[in-house]
Order: sequence, then structure tokens, then C-alpha cells
Amino acid sequence: MNIVVFGAGYVGLVTATGLAELGNHVLCVEVDLARVEALRAGKIPIFEPGLAELVTRNTREGRIDFTAVVPDLSWGADTFVIAVGTPPRADGSADVSAVLAVAETIAARAARRALVIVKSTVPVGTGDRVQHILDTHLQAQTPARSRLGLEHVSNPEFLREGSAIDDFFSPERIVCGVRSTWAEERMRALYAPLQLEAAQVQIIDVRSAELCKYAANALLALRISFMNEMARLCDALGADVHDVRCALGGDSRIGHLYLNPGPGYGGSCFPKDVQALACLGRDVGVRLLTVEATHETNDAQRRWVLEKTLRALGDIDRDDPQTKRVAIWGLAFKPETDDVRECAALAIVPRLLDLGIEVRVHDPEATDNFLRALGPRAAEVKRCGRAIDAIEDADVLLLLTEWHSYRSPDFPEVAARMRSRVIVDARNVWGAAPLAALGFKYHSLGLGPREARETREAREEKTTAVTRTMTPDRELPIEAE
Ligand SMILES: NC(=O)c1ccc[n+]([C@@H]2O[C@H](COP(=O)([O-])OP(=O)(O)OC[C@H]3O[C@@H](n4cnc5c(N)ncnc54)[C@H](O)[C@@H]3O)[C@@H](O)[C@H]2O)c1
Repeated sequence: MNIVVFGAGYVGLVTATGLAELGNHVLCVEVDLARVEALRAGKIPIFEPGLAELVTRNTREGRIDFTAVVPDLSWGADTFVIAVGTPPRADGSADVSAVLAVAETIAARAARRALVIVKSTVPVGTGDRVQHILDTHLQAQTPARSRLGLEHVSNPEFLREGSAIDDFFSPERIVCGVRSTWAEERMRALYAPLQLEAAQVQIIDVRSAELCKYAANALLALRISFMNEMARLCDALGADVHDVRCALGGDSRIGHLYLNPGPGYGGSCFPKDVQALACLGRDVGVRLLTVEATHETNDAQRRWVLEKTLRALGDIDRDDPQTKRVAIWGLAFKPETDDVRECAALAIVPRLLDLGIEVRVHDPEATDNFLRALGPRAAEVKRCGRAIDAIEDADVLLLLTEWHSYRSPDFPEVAARMRSRVIVDARNVWGAAPLAALGFKYHSLGLGPREARETREAREEKTTAVTRTMTPDRELPIEAE
């Protein structure tokens, strides 16, 4: 097929590249000239595992190209994909102006009958607006063009940043909201090379397809917010959220995914889609209480992690008047991406700076994006090229993103470098055991009893080790602290 993809962001670039890899000819149109120039020079503007290799190969083999200027389409594009952003407006509703603008461009340029596939996440009814634009623009042109026939399809995107390439080639399901059997056949043909089971391609009506995406994201976000509330409750009641999570997840009706407590969900989808869905409901007089609560809980979780960090700082008993210093590991909203949109660090760092606290940050991929998003306040933050440098003389180490490279740090070196040995683990990845033996105060989310037990055991172990070393008639190894 001859395909034009609009937008070279996380969704557009992955989709364009994936479709090229499947043998289609793809032109990717992107308004950001710098991004286009980078792509044409072989530089990938986003971090997404596996993407660079695919872009390079398909560019070399002539199946994909990038442009900032919508070209003459007389070569016969038969499929258009709209993957531009739909950012939140001040009231939380989705701004679909870029989607509608692209629909106008397509109506003005298309040279043959074609599908216009909207992959962007858009409120229910946007597809009808797109179809209206396509129809009215064509009707206003020559009689031949008015009969061209451009047909909108809703094809919401479910890829996850960090595993987007796998998600493209092995999707769990593909949802197509179509208006005719012609569109259905074209969509089936587009995805046929993926060799999916028939049931994996779900052909439904346009409005239901549009709603699917919001409903899916809101439900996943709701699970996260629910578990974050459980973590707060566990902290207050002296229960263990890990055990609660395992018990919940062991129920096949519930399952284990999206039940990890953390500093609140972020990224370009959950925060904006949850709010957009709440707006959508309000617009039609259906108040979505669980959806609104999901959003409020997320804000509360951010505040809770901030408060935990401030309490941890407050507990530090120090005579010297030096400014307190927090080291943050992890800025991306999740591992394996450089996306910092709505990340926890963007909510927490400005508050720490307001309080006169020094902040040092590290992230394997997302530091540039984070500092850009922070704006003028970026100058107040110390960026560190290595994780270990971020903790130099820090009072608290706050873990916000659980990159693999943070999973098993050299804790004795961390202990030696920090000024005070305090850790706030907002991803519950480390556990108190390896830290208590080194004299760290360890704060997690809702793991109080476990922390107490592991700390006690580590101390007992340490005492035993010391006693052993003081008993000369017993040949036992001296255990390092
Ligand atoms: N990022 C995700 O994980 C994800 C997953 C599923 C769905 N979505 C949805 O997909 C859409 C795109 O998301 P994204 O994360 O790729 O956004 P993004 O901001 O990374 O990329 C959007 C790109 O579109 C470009 N653009 C804007 N107007 C344009 C125009 N008129 N012509 C050509 N290019 C234009 C922008 O310059 C930008 O590069 C959103 O609606 C989002 O909600 C995102």
C-alpha cells in the first residue's frame, strides 16, 4: 500500500516504521522541521528500544521517507494515518485541532479513493467531524474530486512506550471502527501481514472504537490509583501492600498487572485520557465518578511521595547548616522511554526547589527532556551523567523510575557517597534488607511490617556477625558491614 502517516512522535514514527517494515511505501509528514531533518540524517528523536534499527533499514531500502511539507500526492496514496498529538486543554478536554487540520490537508491533496485512519486518541464524535471535513472539502472542489471518496476509520492505538515495536508487530488486538465493508476489507488487508487470529481484529462502529481507547486507559489508571490508595492505607494500618497485591493478583478475575504502587501514573496517555474521559462524560450529562476519583487519587499520590520525602529529610538530625540535598534517580514516567510528560519528577522537583532544597537528578535517557520541560527552573537543578554522581553528599535518595540499571546498585558505595543514609523508594524495588545492614533508613510505599522485619533481621544478623568476630575460638568468616 502507499501510505502517508501524519506525525512522527511516539505513535506516528512507530506506526510509519512498522508499516514500512511490512512492505508498504510510507511517507511520514511531520511539522517539526528539526525532527524531520534529524530523521533524514538517521537520528531518531525519541528513545524507543529497537526503533532506530528499523528506521535505518527501511530508509536504506527506500520504503520510508520523512518530510515537513505535505507533497503533491498524485503518486496515489491510498491510505492516510493521522497520529498527531491531542493534548489536554485547560479544562482537561482533548484538543483535536491538529487532527482536524490534517483532515483538511488530506481532503485538499488526496488524488484517489483512500482511507483516512485516525490513530490519535480522540473524543467520541471526532471521527464524524473528520468525515464531515473530508466530505465537505471534496464537494467544494471539481466534480471529479467530489466523487473521490475519502473514508474515515477509527483505529485507536494501544502501543506502550518502551515496548512499542513489539506491540506493533504482536498486538493483543486491533480495533477498527469502520463505516463500510470496503473500509473493513482495507483495514483487514493493512494488518494481514501480522498474521493475527481473526478474533484479534475487532471490527466495530466508529463511536465504540473511539470510546475503547479512553475506557481502556481509564480502567488501567483506575487500577493504579486503587493500589496507590491501598499503599497509603497499608502505611496507616501497618499492613503490607506487597502481600495484599499478591493476594489480589492471585485471583484470576483480577490478575497481577497494573497493581504496583508507585508515585502516580504519568506519561502522555493516562493523565490526559482520564481527564478527557471525565470531560466527555460531563458533556453528555453522565458524571463519571470513578474516573474523576482516579485523577484525584493520582494527584494525592504525588503529594504523598513528596510528603514522605520531606518527612525523611525532616528526620535527619544534623548540626551543620548546609542546605539539604535530594538525589533523584529516574525522571521518565516509566523505564525504557525518554518521555517525561506528566512524570512524577515534574510534580515533585519544583516543590523541593521552592523549599530551598538542592536537587540532583539522573536518568539514563530522559534528563534532556526533563530539563526542557522544567523550563527556567532547570538552571536550579544539578544534572548528573552517572547515577552515582547524583547521590554525592545527598541526604535523601528518591527513586522515582525503576530503570533496570537502578535495580541493584552498589549500596556500600551509595552509603559512602551520601551525607545521610536515607532512601525513599517510590517503586518498592529494593527492600529494607540490603539497606538496613548498611545503616540506611529505608522508606517504601505501604511496606511497613516488611521494612520493620527486614530491618530487625538485618540488625540481628549484624550483631551476630560482630559477636562471631569477637569469639576467637570459633573459625567463622568476618562479615563485612
Ligand atoms: N505515546 C503513547 O504511548 C500513545 C499510545 C497510544 C495513543 N497515543 C495517542 O496518539 C497520539 C499521538 O501521541 P504521541 O505520543 O505520538 O504524540 P507526540 O507528541 O509524541 O507526537 C505527535 C507529533 O505530531 C506532530 N504534529 C502535530 N501537528 C501535525 C500536523 N498538522 N502534521 C504533521 N505532524 C504534526 C508533532 O510535531 C509531534 O511530533 C495522541 O493522541 C496520543 O494520545 C499515544
